[in-house]
Amino acid sequence: MKITTLANYHQSYKESIDQPEVFWARVAESFSWKRKWDKVLDWNFSEPKVKWFEGGKLNITENCLDRHIETLGDTPAIIWEPNDPEEHHRVLTYKDLLFKVKQFANVLKNNGVKKGDRVCIYMGMIPELPIAVLACARMGAIHSVIFGGFSAQSIADRLQDARAEFIITCDGAYRGAKDIPLKAVIDDALIACAFVKRVIVCTRTRVPVSMIKGRDVWWEDEVKKVETQGNPDCPAEVMDAEDMLFILYTSGSTGKPKGVVHTTGGYMVWTAYTFQNVFQYQPGQIHFCTADIGWITGHSYIVYGPLLSGATSLMFEGVPTWPDAGRFWEIVDKYKVNILYTAPTAIRSLMGFGLEYVKDKDLSSLQVLGTVGEPINAEAWQWYYKNIGKENCPIVDTWWQTETGGVLISNLAKITPQKPTFATLPLPGVNPCLVDENGKEIEGNGVSGNLCIKTPWPGILRTTYGDHERCRLNYFATYPGLYFTGDGCLRDEHGNYRITGRVDDVLNVSGHRIGTAEVENAINMHAGVVESAVVGYPHDVKGQGIYAYVITEGHHSNENQTRQDIIQTVARIIGAIAKPDKIQFVKGLPKTRSGKIMRRILRKIAEGETSNLGDTSTLLDPGVVDEIKAGAL
Ligand code: WT7
Repeated sequence: MKITTLANYHQSYKESIDQPEVFWARVAESFSWKRKWDKVLDWNFSEPKVKWFEGGKLNITENCLDRHIETLGDTPAIIWEPNDPEEHHRVLTYKDLLFKVKQFANVLKNNGVKKGDRVCIYMGMIPELPIAVLACARMGAIHSVIFGGFSAQSIADRLQDARAEFIITCDGAYRGAKDIPLKAVIDDALIACAFVKRVIVCTRTRVPVSMIKGRDVWWEDEVKKVETQGNPDCPAEVMDAEDMLFILYTSGSTGKPKGVVHTTGGYMVWTAYTFQNVFQYQPGQIHFCTADIGWITGHSYIVYGPLLSGATSLMFEGVPTWPDAGRFWEIVDKYKVNILYTAPTAIRSLMGFGLEYVKDKDLSSLQVLGTVGEPINAEAWQWYYKNIGKENCPIVDTWWQTETGGVLISNLAKITPQKPTFATLPLPGVNPCLVDENGKEIEGNGVSGNLCIKTPWPGILRTTYGDHERCRLNYFATYPGLYFTGDGCLRDEHGNYRITGRVDDVLNVSGHRIGTAEVENAINMHAGVVESAVVGYPHDVKGQGIYAYVITEGHHSNENQTRQDIIQTVARIIGAIAKPDKIQFVKGLPKTRSGKIMRRILRKIAEGETSNLGDTSTLLDPGVVDEIKAGAL
């Protein structure tokens, strides 16, 4: 299953495209199945329908945990570094983790959770978060993790969409100098979600919380109940390969976030295969992915990929800049981290603090560096390569999406060549193409277009929860017969891919995906706002910043106050990650005669371009453009 040479990569790639079923059957055989599949792949992109390993039965936690116990029982599965460097770290061996996962799966059963139920997990980055995730998978519940930065309203939207009746949360979470009152946010969310039957609250910050009788219980009390039952075993539920494993909400160009659905067998094969090959993981290595488990990166490369591979996964509760900007490097030295996987936005932010925080660090344990989430600029790439990798560590630039389950395009560490700012080549099983606006494939090298994928890989999303048609429209209808990524891309003369960013109305702010329509809806909820248009603009650290053009009723006495109020509303409706960086008050928006906002013009003005705005003759009132230009921030 492991690619070991460049020739081997080309050979595997060719076989995976020529004979996908043969190729993936061989990879899948290395896992433990309770029943073998009848058919490796059944698909068509027009419905869409994708089924991998149909008829196969398994439980992913047996593959993550049980099967490693004999050889790796006493090996650390998870090392946890707390927010406060003075607090003691925790180590969970494979044995410990299996014990706790079974125990908590029994807690879930005692609390009425049944196979197929949706369980929302809203926690900080403590070991109980992956324990909760795996406990759901153990007993066949579908987990839906929500990032701890989302607001009560965002949680309520997701709970309603998934009809999740069970919640696992914490009293609070520590992130840098901040305490986040998670349970209080859940309480607000549940005002609109009376169908929620049970909230299990894990203790972390000991902030006072209100516990609602009959609904809320403490994690620790529930675990004690299981202990007094003598800690009964928890056999792994037998799951179909195509049973849902989890839902993860993500933003699109329209409407509310959609619940991306991943299923058991294909996701397992894909996360393990990509983890081992992209990072070239070797037994005994310590893997540190700095993402939050609330995002797909954490699901695939803190929890599932590493555990499926018997690796040691380091999880960090805090933030890169607290207590100071040397925190990542301190952690690398403390645990002798071998693989470091982080986001360009973190690199750019730390780069901004200067080399002072790096110079007294050793970092010699590092062997492989990775980036994910957004295009990495050349300057950040070089800084990472030189100062962190000491020009000794390859950087894998991994392009993928929530919908793809795992990495699709990346160099393989020390196996395939790296090229700064390029994700480079597709992994085996990935069949990319570039198309023009009409969906016509652009062949050859040295070209650019919209990035699509022609055939399914095991980790592709199966549906969007509760709305299969939305899945079809979003990903499979723009260019019939193809999966459309939403990204623009260029292919160099050697066939290396470079992802240039979203071509739809989706922003990437500090590696977080935010729909412009979502931000507009939130702004429009603010009293006095008539209309708004949101675009992205280049931001030195965040990659993209959020620029909002807002029309308000009449005059406001204090523009800055109104700005702050609008920002507050957005934080309430979506979460702090969606706060606009700039708000420009305007009298009108550039609209075509049919009423469509010409975002192209707004984007250019937000970028600071004032002369070359392109054709404005189709505008209903070309005069608004001058007014907007004059007031640009
Ligand atoms: C979007 C997906 C993949 C997990 C984290 C983000 C952008 C992702 C890269 C990269 C350039 C990248 C794309 C993609 N993106 N990785 N290596 N180079 N762009 O997951 O929230 O689903 O966002 O992130 O635009 O479509 P996500």
